[in-house]
Amino acid sequence: MSGVRAGHVPPARSDGPSVRGDAPLVLGIETSCDETGVGLVRGGLLLADTLASSVDEHARYGGVIPEIAARAHVEAMVPAVDRALSQAGLRHRDVDAIAVTAGPGLAGALLVGVAAAKAYAFALGVPLYGVHHLAAHVAVDTLEHGPLPGPSMALLVSGGHSSLLLVPDLATGAVIPLGATVDDAAGEAYDKVARLLGMPFPGGPPIDQAARDGSPTIAFPRAKAGDGTFDFSFSGLKTAVARWLEARNRAGEPIPVAAVAASFQEAVVDVLTAKSVAACRSHGVDTLVIGGGVAANSRLRSLAAARCAAAGITLRVPRPGLCTDNGAMVAALGSLQAAAGVTPSLLDMSASSTLSLERP
Ligand code: KG4
Ligand code: ZN
Repeated sequence: MSGVRAGHVPPARSDGPSVRGDAPLVLGIETSCDETGVGLVRGGLLLADTLASSVDEHARYGGVIPEIAARAHVEAMVPAVDRALSQAGLRHRDVDAIAVTAGPGLAGALLVGVAAAKAYAFALGVPLYGVHHLAAHVAVDTLEHGPLPGPSMALLVSGGHSSLLLVPDLATGAVIPLGATVDDAAGEAYDKVARLLGMPFPGGPPIDQAARDGSPTIAFPRAKAGDGTFDFSFSGLKTAVARWLEARNRAGEPIPVAAVAASFQEAVVDVLTAKSVAACRSHGVDTLVIGGGVAANSRLRSLAAARCAAAGITLRVPRPGLCTDNGAMVAALGSLQAAAGVTPSLLDMSASSTLSLERP
């Protein structure tokens, strides 16, 4: 493969702050969707995490508009990097390596982050690590709970993905997809059902909130719950909720919003947690990490905790701010890769909207 490598991880500089002194300072850039995330990690310690979101610009469309997201990344990128450095009390020249989400995600949005990462790596003369977005979602947990035992299991649930991953070794890219969504992602289902209920985008938080005032009394279908695979499907559930609401409206009856929210939510988290525990059992794994925006869901957290405890599985869920897309997760994975001596990416690496789970 042709191209230029930006360099090798240099030893820590003596004039920088001495946090785990000999570990490289990694700046992580995430732009796969609508969040411009920049994080700074040194040796497993999170030093800064800044986020600029264009979510408000998408809200009136009920979903993320790729062109708007890409333009917002261009505007937010340099200020976000500067803010992260000043948050950590560091300067550009303190950075020892750059990590960036290479994919999967929105093509135009990814391109902005990758172009910025290359420019910083080239200008600073430091190595560049193109990382996989899903592996980064798993890696962020190490910032809060320390090294991940191998193998672990990861359930990643967000607006763009629902995935079950077997993770023998994050740093070297040994991440094996066991199952994924065959249609709507879990967060997407939340967003669509919220819209049906007249709630704002993104729909996860208002449904989570409304469900607290209701009980799951409506028996919505548990899609593919007993099919023995680790794939997920939520579009049938969304349609079932839509049909139920239509019937209710036709009959001129009021909509019990809290009960619908609770029943829909129970159907989602029942399937997510049952499949996660089944995947752990079938692969002899006793650690489950949950990440992605939907991991902020209160019922998912409580049901996962109960089912993991019953099955003897250690559950690790990062705090909500680290579950959603952010730069810290990218810096965390870059930091693990640098520590493991992984070969950096070439400066002609490209962004890939459909990047598979092999190292870019
Ligand atoms: O990871 P994320 O910030 O972005 C990507 O989609 O990659 O996840 C956003 C998704 C949205 O679909 C949002 O509705 C969902 O996460 N979400 C939630 C909650 N908070 C955010 N879903 C359920 N319950 C929540 N509390
Ligand atoms: Zn994500």
